[in-house]
Amino acid sequence: MNKIIPFVYPFDNIELLRIFNLVKHNLVIFHAPNFSTWLNVNKNCIKEFPYIKKIMSEFTTLLNLNIISSTFFWMQKKTIVHAHIDPNTLCSINHNISGGDGIIYYPGYNRYQYETALLDTKTPHGVIAGDKDRIQFKISIFDEDFNTVAAKLKLIDFDSVIC
Ligand SMILES: [Fe+2]
Repeated sequence: MNKIIPFVYPFDNIELLRIFNLVKHNLVIFHAPNFSTWLNVNKNCIKEFPYIKKIMSEFTTLLNLNIISSTFFWMQKKTIVHAHIDPNTLCSINHNISGGDGIIYYPGYNRYQYETALLDTKTPHGVIAGDKDRIQFKISIFDEDFNTVAAKLKLIDFDSVIC
């Protein structure tokens, strides 16, 4: 059973990296033991950037979602986040701005590399960073589970709806 669905969405990595660099001084360490190598940005720091608003608006509309938020994550190269379940998040859309050589693994399932994907965050999963720092833009989905969003995602032709 798949725990992730890769898809192609035309994220503007230059703009995302520009925003990341503007807010990265707000990075905080996740204090849960298994997240010791993750740093993330307070969600409130990025939600007013026009490009972030545009992305969130597009995904809200495309997937008919209600409760979502976005943030950046930064994982240092050659580190490991052990298997965990994301708190409060049923599933998420993760996009690698850099560090796409890293691997997400689901114990008992497969290991995956991806650029952009819908992830099941309620099934235990871990991350092995590659040779580059892994910087991700993450859209967290709080009110619909992986299978529900996956069914919607499969119906979307991103090439035709995004301009
Ligand atoms: Fe996670």
